[in-house]
Amino acid sequence: MKRFNLVILATGGTIAGRAVSAGDNIGYTAAQVDIDHLLAALPGGTGGWPVITEQLAQVDSKDMSFAVWAKLADRVNHFLARGDVQGIVITHGTDTLEETAYFLQAVCRPAKPVVLTCAMRPATAWAPDGPQNIRDALAVACHEGAHGVVAVCAGTVHSAFDVQKVHTYRLDAFSSGDAGPIGYVEEGQVRLLRNWPVAQEGKAQAAIENIANWPRVEIIMSYAGASAAIVRALVAQGVQGLVAAATGNGTLHHALEAGLIEAQAAGVKVVRCTRCANGRVLPRAGDIFADSEGLTPVKARIALMLELSTCDIPRKTLVLP
Ligand code: SIN
Repeated sequence: MKRFNLVILATGGTIAGRAVSAGDNIGYTAAQVDIDHLLAALPGGTGGWPVITEQLAQVDSKDMSFAVWAKLADRVNHFLARGDVQGIVITHGTDTLEETAYFLQAVCRPAKPVVLTCAMRPATAWAPDGPQNIRDALAVACHEGAHGVVAVCAGTVHSAFDVQKVHTYRLDAFSSGDAGPIGYVEEGQVRLLRNWPVAQEGKAQAAIENIANWPRVEIIMSYAGASAAIVRALVAQGVQGLVAAATGNGTLHHALEAGLIEAQAAGVKVVRCTRCANGRVLPRAGDIFADSEGLTPVKARIALMLELSTCDIPRKTLVLP
């Protein structure tokens, strides 16, 4: 089989982190080591695959910005369009990986694999997890039939729609919730458990170009003793969309709900989702607010920003097997 190029776009994260001592897995600085040094330290190299690397950013992903997203989407689209590129791997911090994954799926809708990977331990650790994750991500990026944005961590392949960071420390820090992972990577081989997400057509070029002007959308959580105060303050500041992270199956503290109804009457689009880690809000007749259709609060926020930017958004329900 002819081997086309794989591209690695590096953005920082713990996978590129450096600690003073090899025994320190938590007291490190993220986003220090460049991608070429990470690859040079990869036992067995890239497994014979020709790889093009670009150090696109060097950020701790808690500080991920729309500017980096715009640059990333541009480079992803650039490389996807090249006939000699088989797939793309993106190294990323774990903290906002699921947001970048959903964003890239929403705007780039790749017909080739775009694989985000990461690490929970810095590159300088005694036993770093980054090298194995990079090897696994490369295996997915060159897997025949792979397409769309996925995340690979601890040998598990998650779709951009389902992936969520669920652990603060363990190497296997991600889950696909009820949907379950797409598959596993075992000794360089991908074992599929379900189909790749349904391919989506086109790309949202206008949304990428206009990212600096995206509408302001904030997330509000419902909790014991919640009030309408934050909602009212945000409406006064001109917020255009609100994502309500509700309790359980979409319930909201009555005081917060009153504020959200007021906001909606004032023209602010309100989308409701659950703050539960698993499950989705089951809509009922007469629901007052739009439903996130299973998206988590952080992904529902991106979907709402795109919707308010008049971009059609990919829905999770489209990709269920
Ligand atoms: C980050 O998200 O950039 C830091 C944390 C991590 O990668 O685990």
